[in-house]
Amino acid sequence: MNLFDLQSVFEKTTPEKIMTIKSITLSLGLVSFVFTASAAAPDLGKLPPAAKKEGVSYDKDIKPIFEKSCVKCHGPEKNPKSKYRVDSLEAAIKGGSSGEAAIIPGKGEKSPLLLQVADLIDDEDKRMPPTDKRDKYPALTKDEVGLVRAWIDQGAK
Ligand code: HEC
Repeated sequence: MNLFDLQSVFEKTTPEKIMTIKSITLSLGLVSFVFTASAAAPDLGKLPPAAKKEGVSYDKDIKPIFEKSCVKCHGPEKNPKSKYRVDSLEAAIKGGSSGEAAIIPGKGEKSPLLLQVADLIDDEDKRMPPTDKRDKYPALTKDEVGLVRAWIDQGAK
């Protein structure tokens, strides 16, 4: 392309063309935003339904599940993984080094812990118990996930 051609390209860049380019850029941005947002949203349709049981409690119903599948890594030992402990109700709700609450009482669907034990988190490293350790620390059954869901929905008492 010689200099003369280049000059004619610049001369033809009308305000209309600039607007078209801007709106194409904007739509592309919007499309990629929508894609990113939908990839991050968990598929709540796959979440096992909350157990019908009333008065689900940490001490009676949930602690035994945590003791079987979680407490070896998230208990009183020297370095609980991700500085997160499930051996007391307060600590289990609070969360660990992520800085995010693990449980939002009353809102199972919004509680990271429930999505993590139901394998609905995209990031495989955050599925609990870790997928490569389930020979020693069993994954929660659908019924157990339903019980955890009911417990959180009922206020995580
Ligand atoms: C074999 C060890 C191991 C077991 C068993 C285990 N976890 Fe974890 N957990 C980890 C590790 C490692 C991380 C950090 C993962 C990461 O962020 O990459 C973690 C992180 C977490 C977090 C995030 C805490 C925060 O705020 O940073 C939660 C919540 C959690 N685990 C819940 C559970 C629950 C509930 C169970 C039992 C159903 C469980 N884990 C079983 C190793 C374990």
